[in-house]
Amino acid sequence: MSKHRQLVIGMFGFGVVGEGLYKVLKQTPSLSASIKKVCIKNPGKKRNAPDELFTTDKNDLLEDKEINVIVEVIDDSVAAFEIVKTALKNKKEVVSSSKKMIAEHLQELLDLQQKTGKSFLYESSACASIPAIRNLEEYYDNDLLHSIRAIVNGSTNFILTKMFDENLGFKEALLLAQQLGFAESNPTLDVEGFDALNKWAIFLCHAYGIITTPDQILFTGIQNIHKSDAAVAKARGQQIRLVAQAKKLTGGGVGAFVLPQFVTADNPLSFVKNEYNGVVIESGFADQQFFYGKGAGSFPTASAVLSDLSALRYGYKYEYKKLYHHEPNQLNDDIYLKVYVSFSDVKNVPTEDFEWIEQWHAQEDRKYLSGVIALQKLKNSTWWKENGTSLILEPDPILESIEERKLRKKSLELAGLL
Ligand code: HSE
Repeated sequence: MSKHRQLVIGMFGFGVVGEGLYKVLKQTPSLSASIKKVCIKNPGKKRNAPDELFTTDKNDLLEDKEINVIVEVIDDSVAAFEIVKTALKNKKEVVSSSKKMIAEHLQELLDLQQKTGKSFLYESSACASIPAIRNLEEYYDNDLLHSIRAIVNGSTNFILTKMFDENLGFKEALLLAQQLGFAESNPTLDVEGFDALNKWAIFLCHAYGIITTPDQILFTGIQNIHKSDAAVAKARGQQIRLVAQAKKLTGGGVGAFVLPQFVTADNPLSFVKNEYNGVVIESGFADQQFFYGKGAGSFPTASAVLSDLSALRYGYKYEYKKLYHHEPNQLNDDIYLKVYVSFSDVKNVPTEDFEWIEQWHAQEDRKYLSGVIALQKLKNSTWWKENGTSLILEPDPILESIEERKLRKKSLELAGLL
């Protein structure tokens, strides 16, 4: 695409993001981009744009030769995949925000981009206003990217902030997140961690060249976090956040998961409140870097779509450098996690699965323990998501090897010191 080529856009969806983009484009005439048609599902709905802009026939966009860019910002991941496939095959560039669809079809989407030579950009699909994907793709060399820890879901962060800083009930906080346009139309996707998981699968591709599907990654959301957990966090001077993590392991591969975690006051993620997201990167020589910005909402998400559109004008494509030009990484589940578990009845917790348990608090109605467990044991079971049991990672939770610690613990036990 030449530098000054006019972008003629066909857009699918006119919800929170679509309407946001429509407004944002009106305020950025310098981009030379205009929306020619918008395809919507429900024509009866009142919308803040002229009627002639809308159609319900997808071919009015996909078959229109003048339209050179398809922006896909719909909610239905199955329909979104069909739209993106057809658009790329019809030689159109595509910008999408459908994280679920992208995460579930990464390999096919990579193949399609190679086959068609067309650009497929999706900066808005993860962390909305934070330019995370392009940075991971462009800036960090594979060998130097030691770890990433991130808050990638705005709604859950909003709910945690409202519940624990402002004493709002869960339902009220969720309702507010819905009203403000942060939550998915099925908010279970946010609350139970699916949305964060999908975004994490996308991050793993651009950060480490790992092509995986969300079902391969250990995860949960904030659904079981209990008031007493918040009290424990408060007493420790910590916060609870839903944190997505990936770490290069000394033994090879990358450990990755999405789980709630206690974060200490010196962790930059503890400053991330409400619908904001944050990404902490540890890399060779640069040490720690922190990206911060709004992770949900109409304009913050539209701003990332806008940036993709702008990038299309100079022919930008993801090169998937970590995958095609480096030695791609693999997920490695052979790690141990330091966890806190709170529960009402110990019979729901298989304590024999733990490598060791460091603390027991059994006096209160709500009991808790802290200990170390293999990630694989969590992956192969569901007890830690059931019966209202709440599992929260301790700060700095990854242990690569436990042998030495086990021996040390044993010798202390023998010496009668434990
Ligand atoms: N429901 C998503 C969130 C929207 O809360 O982060 C932005 O992807």
